[in-house]
Amino acid sequence: MRARTQIVVRKATAKDAASIINVLRSTNLHGEEWTRNEEWVEKALDRFLRIDDYRVFVAEVDDKIVGLVGLVVFPSLWEGSAQGLINDFFVDKRFQGKEAGTKLLEALVEWAGTEGIEELHVSTGWENEAARRLYEKFGFTKKRLLLERECER
Ligand SMILES: CC(C)(COP(=O)(O)OP(=O)(O)OC[C@H]1O[C@@H](n2cnc3c(N)ncnc32)[C@H](O)[C@@H]1OP(=O)(O)O)[C@@H](O)C(=O)NCCC(=O)NCCS
Repeated sequence: MRARTQIVVRKATAKDAASIINVLRSTNLHGEEWTRNEEWVEKALDRFLRIDDYRVFVAEVDDKIVGLVGLVVFPSLWEGSAQGLINDFFVDKRFQGKEAGTKLLEALVEWAGTEGIEELHVSTGWENEAARRLYEKFGFTKKRLLLERECER
């Protein structure tokens, strides 16, 4: 029998920036290469990872980061509770299908519960079957319409 890959999930720090960028590069979302502004990403991690209400979980295999998921905590004044928005969920293509994504979501959902977050939200592309199936397994259901527009600079 083949040994299962040992996956460890932990909270990211700004020191993980280079490894996180490596995962973004090696995810290859829908065949699209990640060629964004790395300097901006490094600065953003350095800035936002100091904020309690932003968190990135990373999955490691043999001490190497192979995946990440981000969570932004925000207030809903209407609901009178804290809510969480999941973003940037990526696993290195070479490690996809080995449960790193599952482990990342498990850690995130558990942490959200301990923090008193009452609702989690996430959006994904219609065509992203792997992500949709995984979110559904975690109890996410289709609830809202997400509208998006770009901002003028
Ligand atoms: C979505 C993603 C984060 C899941 O991570 P993962 O480590 O592959 O997830 P798991 O191994 O825990 O598997 C979760 C499910 O996805 C499926 N899956 C994983 N990789 C897949 C692939 N390349 N093609 C099709 N299905 C895949 C698995 O089969 C599993 O579903 P099942 O158990 O019902 O069969 C990862 O596939 C990824 O990085 N995709 C590209 C980026 C992306 O789409 N991010 C989500 C944006 S919202």
